[in-house]
Amino acid sequence: MTTHLILLAAGEGTRMKSDRAKALHEIGDAPMFVHALASADELSSGRRVIVVGHGGDAVADAARSLDDTILIARQEMQLGTAHAVGAAASALDGAEGDALVLYGDTPFIRPETLANMADARQAGADIVILGFEAEDPARYGRFITEGDTLLRIVEWKDATEEERAVQLCNSGVVMADVSVLMDLVEAVGNNNASEEYYLTDIIEIGRARGLTTRVVLCDEAETLGVNSRGDLARAEAIFQARRRAVLLNDGVTLVAPETVHLSFDTLIGRDAVIEPNVVFGPGVTVETGALIRAFCHLEGCHIGSGAIVGPFARLRTGAEVSNGAKVGNFVEMKNATLGEGAKANHLSYIGDADVGPRANIGAGTITCNYDGVFKHRTEIGEEAFIGSDTMLVAPVRVGAGAMTASGTVVTKDVPDGALAVGRTRQDNKLTFATRFFEKLRAAKAANGKG
Ligand code: UD1
Ligand code: MG
Repeated sequence: MTTHLILLAAGEGTRMKSDRAKALHEIGDAPMFVHALASADELSSGRRVIVVGHGGDAVADAARSLDDTILIARQEMQLGTAHAVGAAASALDGAEGDALVLYGDTPFIRPETLANMADARQAGADIVILGFEAEDPARYGRFITEGDTLLRIVEWKDATEEERAVQLCNSGVVMADVSVLMDLVEAVGNNNASEEYYLTDIIEIGRARGLTTRVVLCDEAETLGVNSRGDLARAEAIFQARRRAVLLNDGVTLVAPETVHLSFDTLIGRDAVIEPNVVFGPGVTVETGALIRAFCHLEGCHIGSGAIVGPFARLRTGAEVSNGAKVGNFVEMKNATLGEGAKANHLSYIGDADVGPRANIGAGTITCNYDGVFKHRTEIGEEAFIGSDTMLVAPVRVGAGAMTASGTVVTKDVPDGALAVGRTRQDNKLTFATRFFEKLRAAKAANGKG
């Protein structure tokens, strides 16, 4: 059955004390709403609608840049969760099948849990709602049940003392036929303590219409919502712990897991070893058996099988380290390829460059890729040997098997197999140093000062 997704992300998030919309604050380097979208990925085969309000343009832009098929619905005034679902009505006009309501600030609902909800729908329940046993139910909505039947949901603000004692709480996640859901939210009023249109009211309204409701339970940890910077930090920690566990389980060695930062899309192959204190920004793939040594910062790069990177390397967007290549300490790469078995072991900047297989980049080599306005490329042929402290002023090409002498400033192409020397010729002034220091020491002894 087609399942459409309604993702509510219009909340102000006042407690974040931020100029950015809450939904854009990041967990694992992705805006937090992306996590809920990803959980629903397997299930939601239909339209995906994000309801935006506060800071909505920026949220809409972020959503579209992720995937331009995502539909944006505007909820100008945040009048409650039922009102927010209603805001998605025109985006879902004519849609058939189910609708699943998720929340942009609740990133940890597992796909398996959503699958359980879909099963409950298949089994015939008209409305399926996700609940959890809360250790401290705090201000969550409470499920008021009679035997196995959910009668209604009461919000904390509207609840009696007796109702507040209930520990079965509402996650807010709901699934129902699209048109049934839209009819129900339209019937919701705002006669309550908050004067809001509560999505939770659809249970009672549905019952009065003869619709059946099923509760599916999940772990409390899945329903963790982000309302403050403290929650955001806790959510990040949970995300990191989950991702590290997945990698360990997949055969990756993390020497000190708690010191490794991962992104939502980090991919690391089996038998790769990650030493302590490594940061994986977005878009990193590490192939099998690669070694990432301590204190590396990686983003938007690909590291081939058996390659060794670090310690203290920085790989930026477009860095491609081929199989068996080596990138050593204090080397930065950007938009550059290091061919198979090539080495850049120390203190280099390799930007906008193609380095051929088995080439050796000496310490202190810099590709001078930027003229202040444009970026230019440097090409280094296979098995070329770049002497220490070579400046490669791009655009420039060093041929296959060619060499550059240490300290050379390369401004012209170097043919295959040639040596480029571009530095001032050395002149040795015999005995100069001895005489020079003798003179200085004599002067110091004469006036007695240090
Ligand atoms: C809601 C539930 C409550 C549940 C709790 C779980 C209602 C009435 N209450 O309460 O039973 O225990 O979630 O966390 O549904 N939103 C909009 N537009 C609005 C209002 C909210 O998009 O006008 C979005 C928010 O961005 C947020 C979500 O809906 O992502 C939930 O809203 P929130 O105000 O946090 O509801 P709670 O009071 O937490
Ligand atoms: Mg909330």
